[in-house]
Amino acid sequence: MTHPHTHAPVRRLGERAPFGTTPSGETVEQIEIANANGVRLAVLSYGGVIRAIHVPDRDGNFTDVALGYDTLEGYVGDTAYLGALVGRVANRIAAGRMSVDGRELTLARNADGNHLHGGMRGFDKAVWSMTSFERDGAAGVVLSHVSPDGDEGYPGTLRIEVTYTLDDSDRLRVDYLASTDAVTPVNLTQHSYFNLHGADVGDVLDHELTLVASRFTPVNEALIPTGELRAVRGTPFDFTAPHAIGERIGDADEQLRLARGYDHNFAIDRASDGDLALAARLTEPVSGRGVDVYTTEPGIQFYSGNFLDGRAIGKGGHPYRFRTGLALETQHFPDAPNHPSFPSIVLRPGEEYRTSTVYHFVVRT
Ligand code: GLA
Repeated sequence: MTHPHTHAPVRRLGERAPFGTTPSGETVEQIEIANANGVRLAVLSYGGVIRAIHVPDRDGNFTDVALGYDTLEGYVGDTAYLGALVGRVANRIAAGRMSVDGRELTLARNADGNHLHGGMRGFDKAVWSMTSFERDGAAGVVLSHVSPDGDEGYPGTLRIEVTYTLDDSDRLRVDYLASTDAVTPVNLTQHSYFNLHGADVGDVLDHELTLVASRFTPVNEALIPTGELRAVRGTPFDFTAPHAIGERIGDADEQLRLARGYDHNFAIDRASDGDLALAARLTEPVSGRGVDVYTTEPGIQFYSGNFLDGRAIGKGGHPYRFRTGLALETQHFPDAPNHPSFPSIVLRPGEEYRTSTVYHFVVRT
């Protein structure tokens, strides 16, 4: 006889399973975590990748909403940063050049002469140490990585720890921690692409987006911020009220033309520095699946998947075509070191780099 008050214990931690070997012979593993509602994530030690995110629609049907690959080879060859942790410095640094404390740094130039997402071999291509944990109503994964002095041109040994925690309110919390032994820029992010129809279903143009941002940082033709903070009001960049992504993406707008869509940093309107604040709300109206993004960061890059061109063959053999996924990358502003008015990304010995972002998966009826 079953007792109405007994529930099967929640199995939060799945198997830790091998996921392949890198070309240089390092072993990669995957850990799955789940919560009491059946929400499931798969995390790789390679790049700290979030490989899958299974969430329900309004009828309780689960699907995987994260773009990713079936095999390690997919991730090794990836140029779109699908699901990966990005660093030392996310986004672009003009000509890979910056100075800290009067010292000129020359970073790897891997994107049309500029530095992008940490360089030729950023944190997305590193094999991280990975452990899992389970505690009162949550489970998670701790990833750690040591970036050596001189890595992609960055000075100092940087120690990074990133924790993913999934709780029973369907919140995925990402806590970033780093410390250095020499002055260095640091700006870490998570590059998950979402398609809330399901990772293999059409494009994201019907997704409705709200960004809690009354200003954004316009870019030049190389997608580097000009330094201006521009009001979104009256432009296709005004997401202060919800808009379908496709509604204005084809407008004759100089910024949309330069980026072939949205690929811009938005300055989050926040009441106070340092607290988790709502930055974005995304809803896919057909299924009702949604995700709300909270962060301690001052900025969020909204990237509408404009470089996806069908060449990346994702899970289930599905090609990721133009705008079939979008990223909401919480961050300090791109090219910050070259714009004194942008919040600093310099980390000094003895200081602690600490930021957090929460992805709250929701169903909207
Ligand atoms: C970020 C950048 C884009 C692009 C993608 C990866 O979103 O802003 O320009 O580099 O990453 O393809």
